[in-house]
Amino acid sequence: MQLLHLDSSALGAASVSRQLSAEIVARQRALHPDIRVTYRDLAADPALHLTGTHMAIRAGASNADATIAADLVKGNAYLDDLLAADIVVIGAPMYNFSIPTPLKSWVDRIAVAGKTFQYTATGPVGLLKGKRAFIASARGSVYPAGTPAAANEHQESYLIGLLSFLGLTDVKVVRAEGLAFGPEAKDAAVASALEDIAAITA
Ligand SMILES: Cc1cc2nc3c(=O)[nH]c(=O)nc-3n(C[C@H](O)[C@H](O)[C@H](O)COP(=O)(O)O)c2cc1C
Repeated sequence: MQLLHLDSSALGAASVSRQLSAEIVARQRALHPDIRVTYRDLAADPALHLTGTHMAIRAGASNADATIAADLVKGNAYLDDLLAADIVVIGAPMYNFSIPTPLKSWVDRIAVAGKTFQYTATGPVGLLKGKRAFIASARGSVYPAGTPAAANEHQESYLIGLLSFLGLTDVKVVRAEGLAFGPEAKDAAVASALEDIAAITA
């Protein structure tokens, strides 16, 4: 069994999503002792934003730019990681109501027509099959359904929607939120998320 572990927080050792994603991976190692883990710190080593040069090369243009060439290799490796994975663990902080840009850069490399989805005469079809995902979600505020704040929730909903579009619908969110509401609220939110992780059975 293969697990892909991604982190994207800029906060290093102080990051809650990194703590939660590491705990999820540890739980999976305990449940599946033979599991192999590929780790990528997207914040430490992000892919470039897609440019016109990337697009031209994808369309068949030759490339004389070594930086872009290395970046394309990285993007292809992202895709290979994902296609090989049985389980994907995504450390995902909320930044400005959405995901950090290094994680978006990852998305821009793995959402590839013909590889992870395709358009058909009846609409899009996701090509990822038989995979599971965990989203380690951390955010400063709260976004309860049915409140005005929910309209700004483009982090978990974005990732769940994206993964579903790609065919990956078995997704569990582990969430620590309200982290900016004071030390006690933060400790309680993290403790609750760690309990959720300890309760994972598969
Ligand atoms: C650049 C930046 C933008 C943020 N934007 C939001 C936001 O829009 N909504 C929110 O609830 N929290 C926001 N936060 C708070 C983070 O979600 C919170 O600090 C969380 O713990 C980040 O995850 P991490 O600890 O893994 O880095 C933001 C934090 C940073 C650094």
